[in-house]
Amino acid sequence: MIDFKGKTAIVTGSGRGIGRAIATKLAAAGASVMINDLDAAPCEEASAAIPNSAALAGDMTAPDFPQQLVDRTLERFGSIDIIVNNAGYTWDNVIQKTTDEQFQAMLDIHLVAPFRLLRAASGWLRETAKKENAEGRRVMRKVVNITSIAATDGGPGQSGYASGKAGVIGLTRVLAKEWGRYNINVNCVGFGLIETRLIQPLTADSKLEVKGRAIPVGVQQRVIDTMTALSPLGRKGTVDEAAGPVLFFCSPLADYITGEVLIVSGGMHF
Ligand SMILES: NC(=O)c1ccc[n+]([C@@H]2O[C@H](COP(=O)([O-])OP(=O)(O)OC[C@H]3O[C@@H](n4cnc5c(N)ncnc54)[C@H](O)[C@@H]3O)[C@@H](O)[C@H]2O)c1
Repeated sequence: MIDFKGKTAIVTGSGRGIGRAIATKLAAAGASVMINDLDAAPCEEASAAIPNSAALAGDMTAPDFPQQLVDRTLERFGSIDIIVNNAGYTWDNVIQKTTDEQFQAMLDIHLVAPFRLLRAASGWLRETAKKENAEGRRVMRKVVNITSIAATDGGPGQSGYASGKAGVIGLTRVLAKEWGRYNINVNCVGFGLIETRLIQPLTADSKLEVKGRAIPVGVQQRVIDTMTALSPLGRKGTVDEAAGPVLFFCSPLADYITGEVLIVSGGMHF
């Protein structure tokens, strides 16, 4: 059993889906968790259901919000030991139909938001590690950035999404080097098809509301069928199966792993 007692985690986009499963598992293993989501209702609801948690609803792509999330977490819990950059959504189309706004939105949520959150936390993380190092104590801290096989394989119709998710792999590898001296492991977990609203069968009605705009969401049924049929485990993953490897990276079991990408897709690829 992994023990996260005394550790504080920030999990972005944890009002539902994979993020909520990660927050639930971290809390069950003893961590205090700061829940965040763009949507206030699931954010509050998740926090009410998860022990030792607090909620801060807000938009991770708003320039000042990541700093607020860091400040609120430190005020409430006094430390930041784990950061999981999970918030995200898809806004797909073939390149000739992809607007500037659409492409930029994908970079903003999947790459710029993780960059801003990690930069906002960097002051506290560095100062704290310097003190601990001076006292001869090595306290490991963890960053897990969520990516996708859309980035590592190239998801058709996902130029923006795949670029943002590939960009965060670059960010991960840079920070693994910059933050090794502060005893921070920085890794990525990349998913295949995990059962959440993002991969519901695509119909004319399947929409996601992001900042007042209805965005078509889902994957064509024939793509889901082909991908699952061709994959070794022959099925989609559950949110618990997605959260497990994230907890591994957050735990002491992964203290000597940094700058890596772990694909959690049941062997599925595009
Ligand atoms: N489900 C999959 O098959 C799959 C595959 C690969 C990668 N992923 C990635 O996993 C992560 C979680 O996705 P999920 O499948 O659980 O989807 P989900 O829609 O169930 O959960 C994502 C959460 O992120 C929140 N969010 C979106 N934009 C936000 C913003 N600007 N600020 C704060 N919160 C925001 C949403 O409100 C939502 O609650 C995403 O980064 C996604 O790209 C999912």
